[in-house]
Amino acid sequence: MSPQTTSVTVGIVGAGPAGLMLSHLLQRSGIDAINIDTRTREEIENTHRAGILEHGSVRMLTDTGVSDRVLRDGYEHEGIELRFAGTGHRIDFADLVGESVWLYPQTDVFIDLADARGRDGGDVRFGVTDTSVADLTTATPKIRFTDSAGIEHELHCRYVVGADGSRSMCRQELPDEQRTFLRREYPFAWFGILTEAPPSAPELIYAHSEHGFALISQRTDALQRMYFQCDPETDAASWSDEQIWAELAKRTAGDGFELKQGPITEKTVLRFRSSVCEPMRFGNMFLAGDAAHTVPPTGAKGLNLAMMDVKVLHEVLERAVKGNEPGALDEYTPRALARVWKAQHFSYWMTSMLHRMPDASEFDVRRQIGELQSVVDSRAGRTYLAEAYTGWPEQG
Ligand code: DHB
Repeated sequence: MSPQTTSVTVGIVGAGPAGLMLSHLLQRSGIDAINIDTRTREEIENTHRAGILEHGSVRMLTDTGVSDRVLRDGYEHEGIELRFAGTGHRIDFADLVGESVWLYPQTDVFIDLADARGRDGGDVRFGVTDTSVADLTTATPKIRFTDSAGIEHELHCRYVVGADGSRSMCRQELPDEQRTFLRREYPFAWFGILTEAPPSAPELIYAHSEHGFALISQRTDALQRMYFQCDPETDAASWSDEQIWAELAKRTAGDGFELKQGPITEKTVLRFRSSVCEPMRFGNMFLAGDAAHTVPPTGAKGLNLAMMDVKVLHEVLERAVKGNEPGALDEYTPRALARVWKAQHFSYWMTSMLHRMPDASEFDVRRQIGELQSVVDSRAGRTYLAEAYTGWPEQG
């Protein structure tokens, strides 16, 4: 049986936050789009990711009519604490740059976007199999897949977007000689937990210690998210709750700080990697979000970068489709990558300043403390961190 063919202006591989935000924005511009994803909606909802939104990402959700739930269920944070040598130092975003961030988990961003696509009649196919793309350098690039009922489909698109995550199938379609894929590995990972406990602090704590990094984050008044640096080969299940609490306490000790403990309901080890694919385009296919670049989690830039990619991509696609200005598409890679590389640096800087390298000497640890002290003692240093953390102005 031949596949069922459908013509669509933009075919999007991926229905995570990046893919769904793009189809939402395109629909508002009167441009039709279809999302497909190999995962089911439930699978995506149950993937725990980072929890911090830049003010620009919050505005994309609220101002474009996705949802204002972030303003009701999220928590606005006007600063973070950097903890080192047993003392906490507040970075006051509101005072330094007049901005804030929002604690609002990526799963909730996804739920809001998926609900908005449903509400607005968006065409989103979850749980598909056998996805492939073809004819990317022609005027009719195609996406092929089998839907969850077993029916084969072929989408005839004007443009294809690969928003299919860090293991992107779409990215593999860029011929090796036409792309560079730059990568950096780190000799550690994060051990992440969810715990049913009250918050230990009103804001996030990024802690440096001779024992390694720890991050005290939150979810709600009754559920907290915490991480600590670990060996990438760590088997999360083999750690007892007592061992985890002892490790977190050691790394955040000082100032009379006390961690509020509760039952640990999730234990996972998170991969750590920086990567950038350049260019973010091949013919009439464009990559967005993790498909094009990944950052280490320190500083929570991943989702925010994906949102900004999509904002630029929507704008150039709109100019190409509605304004008959196909040259606008050439702006996508340079505009998106300018921000990506700033975020690569910020995530790398936060990581290298706060984590302990496996072969670190006493000198290395003391030098890091000197670096942290330079940041917190200087208004310029604190302002740099605050600008990057809350999100640079667009194209700035
Ligand atoms: C969270 C994750 C991060 O990587 C970060 O920098 C801050 C918060 C989180 O999951 O809450």
